[in-house]
Formats: sequence, C-alpha cells, structure tokens
Amino acid sequence: MGFYRKTRVKDAAFRRVLPVVLVTLLGVLFLIFLLKTSSVSDIVTWNSSEVDEPSPVNYNLSRFNVKPKLPKQTKLSNSLQKRNQLPPRNLDLFPNLAKDHIIIVLYVHNRPQYLQVVIQSLSKVEGISETLLIVSHDGYFEEMNKIIESIRFCQVKQIFTPYSPHLYTDGFPGVSSGDCKDKDDASKKHCKGNPDQYGNHRSPKIVSLKHHWWWMMNTVWDSLEETRDHSGHILFIEEDHFIFPNAYRNIQLLTALKPKKCPNCYATNLAPSDVLSKGEQWESLIAEKMGNVGYAFNRTVWRKIHSKARNFCFFDDYNWDITMWATVFPSFGAPVYTLRGPRRSAAHFGKCGLHQGQGERGACIDNGAVNVEVEEIDKVANIKSDWKVHVIRRQEGYQAGFKGWGGWGDERDRRLCLDFAYMYHFRDTLSSSDLKS
Ligand SMILES: *[C@@H]1O[C@H](CO)[C@@H](O)[C@H](O)[C@H]1NC(C)=O
Ligand SMILES: *[C@@H]1O[C@H](CO)[C@@H](O)[C@H](O)[C@H]1NC(C)=O
Ligand SMILES: *[C@@H]1O[C@H](CO)[C@@H](O)[C@H](O)[C@H]1NC(C)=O
Repeated sequence: MGFYRKTRVKDAAFRRVLPVVLVTLLGVLFLIFLLKTSSVSDIVTWNSSEVDEPSPVNYNLSRFNVKPKLPKQTKLSNSLQKRNQLPPRNLDLFPNLAKDHIIIVLYVHNRPQYLQVVIQSLSKVEGISETLLIVSHDGYFEEMNKIIESIRFCQVKQIFTPYSPHLYTDGFPGVSSGDCKDKDDASKKHCKGNPDQYGNHRSPKIVSLKHHWWWMMNTVWDSLEETRDHSGHILFIEEDHFIFPNAYRNIQLLTALKPKKCPNCYATNLAPSDVLSKGEQWESLIAEKMGNVGYAFNRTVWRKIHSKARNFCFFDDYNWDITMWATVFPSFGAPVYTLRGPRRSAAHFGKCGLHQGQGERGACIDNGAVNVEVEEIDKVANIKSDWKVHVIRRQEGYQAGFKGWGGWGDERDRRLCLDFAYMYHFRDTLSSSDLKS
C-alpha cells in the first residue's frame, strides 16, 4: 500500500437544502419528489435489506442519524462530480462491449511515471478492447489526465472522487485550520480531532487512500451508470500494478472456472497474495487468501462487503486492504479464498509507497523503466481448465485480532466513510423522523 491516501467528500447540498424544505409541507413533498426522481437515475430499484447480507449489528444506521452529511463541496469538486457523468471515451473506436466482459477499474493517485507503465502494459493486454476501463482518480492532476486521455485501445472513463482531501485546501476532508496535528492534546490546544489508538491525529494525505477505495467501490457498484447494472465481475488494479498480456484472458478463465473449481472462493486474482511471489508454476490452480493485486469479484460479494460497512469504517487502520483482512473478511465467518493461476499475470512494481518497506526483492521501477520479466508463456492464456485446485489453507499476514496501524481514529473520517456507504441508498433510509428532525 502506498503512503499516500485520499479523502472523500459528501453531499453538502442536502444539508443546505433540507432545512429550507422543511419549512412547509409543500417543501417536504417537493423533497420527496426530488428524492424519488433522483433515485430513478441513481440506483434503479434498490432494496438493501434484500441484497445486503442481513446483519443487524453492522446495519444499525440509527446511531449515525443515517442521512449522509457530506462535506460542503468546493467548486473543483463539484465540477469533477459533474464530469463523472460524462460517457466513456473511444466509443467511436469501440462502440460495443463484448458479451460477458469483465470491467476493469484502475485506481490512481499521482504517480504519473508509474501510471505510464501501467497503461503501456494494459495496451498490450489481449482482449482489452472488449471491455471498459474505468480510471478512478484521487485528486486532480493534469499529468495523470494526459496519460489517460491518450488511451486508444479500449473504452475508457475517468471518475474523480469529489471528496478527495487533495481537493480541499481549507476544511475537512482536507486540512482545516483548527485541526489537531500529530500528538496534540485536543483539550489543551483547543483543536479539533480524535487521536487514533496510538495518540496520533488524522493526516489528510494518509486517510485519502482508504477513503478513495471505499468511495470508488460504492460508486462503481451502486451508482455509476456504466457499471451499476453490470452482472459479472469487476477487476480492480492500482497505479503500480504491471499487467501481463495474458491477464484479461486469464481472469476470464478463472472467473468462468470458479463456480465449479472453487465454489467457496469469493474472488479471482491475477497475482499471489504474497506480492513478491511470481507464483508456484505448478500445473494446478491455486486457492488462497485473497490478495490485493488484480482482484476480481461480483456484485454478490460486494453486497456482502457493503453489509460490513461499519467494520470497515470503524477499524483504526488507514489501509483499506489491511482493514479487509483484519476485520471485514473475518466477519464473514469462514476463510475468504480467491482462485488464481500458478503464474502471476500482474506484478506490483512500486517500491515507493510500500508501507512495510518490502520493496527490496520486488520488481522495481526507475523513472518508468520496469524490470518485470514477461516471458512467452505470459503472453497467452496459460490456465488449463482440467487442472485441479491446490488449496493453501494457512492464511498468512494480517488476521482477525490485529489492532490496526492506526491513522483512522477521527470521528469525521469514520462518519465520512459510513456516508459513502449510504449516500446512494439514501432513499431507503430516509424515514419520516428524518424529515421532522
Ligand atoms: C425489500 O426486501 C425485503 C426482504 O426481502 C421485503 O420484505 C421488502 O418488502 C422489500 N422492500 C421493497 C420496497 O421492495
Ligand atoms: C441501533 O442503535 C440505536 C442507537 O444507538 C439503539 O438505540 C438501537 O437499539 C440499535 N438497534 C439495534 C438493532 O442494535
Ligand atoms: C458471485 O460470486 C460468488 C462467490 O464466488 C458466488 O457465490 C455467487 O453465486 C456469484 N453471483 C453471481 C450472481 O454469479
């Protein structure tokens, strides 16, 4: 995981509009009308009690007053949110998506020299023109945009988290003038903020990545027109993942084989969960702990993850992946396995930004030159459907019981995170008492 993180924002519009509307009954009716209207385009038919795993503890919205109170947006964040509605580019070159395509979501911050490598690798992926590539940005950076705008090998759509701390120069989720810093004592310094379990106050740069990941997941699955009705898998990759030419065909194969070969697997992966491993190179499929490089899953799994929003948002760790391993997955009640091939089809190459300092043995990048070796066997699909599955039962690394690295103690971050989970489901959670309060 990178050092950099993002933040996100909320819908300030509601907060400002609501009191006015409440003044008259007419206003209330108007609001309901607005909500109904917007829900048509936002969520289609949504029934959270139906689709999310029933989980009363995790789903206790009343404690949070439910109504998303998203931060007041800036001009830039507003304009980016509008831009998220633009149709994909390259529709003229690739008017149709293939049947059963696997959508690819690439989430990025601001490392253009890495992004260049990722996009170059994606351009050589067999089958990439059959699908849609969504690039989710944390922050607004021209150099990053230029790279994405140059893509001609598939449909591509950019989205920007309007609540990235990088978009707010004065106020939450960015840095606010009255905020506590580092190990400040809030009562002595009269500053704002809740320290994490180690006594440190929030750092907008640090929290931004977990916020971005969560905003992106919620937006892609539950809101974005291009993806909210997608019935298949979505593959997630990051700005420092080198993608092999056979990645798309392999993930298609794995996804097709999963129901038969590993019905208990939640996901498919392009790479081993040990980011330094190139794979065992055996003649078999591997089921193991879900990894964070090139993972794909479907809506059923997303609903299950979404139903654990409180676990995700309250765990005091600023890393989304460690949060998943230490609290969300363990809450599913059984080990979470993923299905992958015996050779990696994606490689993590960023040594900068690895938070355990484990970059030494991994493939490294120097000014855009990456030394990931792509052999002939990595250029074509190399997974056989008659292979058996080798199950790696021992799940190494972060587990239930791990207390977290901290960085996620501020009530405002937790609240914003929960708001992301419910901002697209507001219609369901709006009750008459909400309207009266
Ligand atoms: C939502 O799902 C629940 C459980 O299946 C059902 O009882 C309820 O009537 C549904 N609500 C709507 C609005 O469809
Ligand atoms: C939900 O939270 C509220 C407020 O904390 C509490 O009164 C209520 O009992 C909780 N409901 C459940 C089902 O836990
Ligand atoms: C989605 O994946 C899960 C886990 O592999 C599987 O149990 C479920 O049936 C799949 N859902 C759909 C709609 O294919």
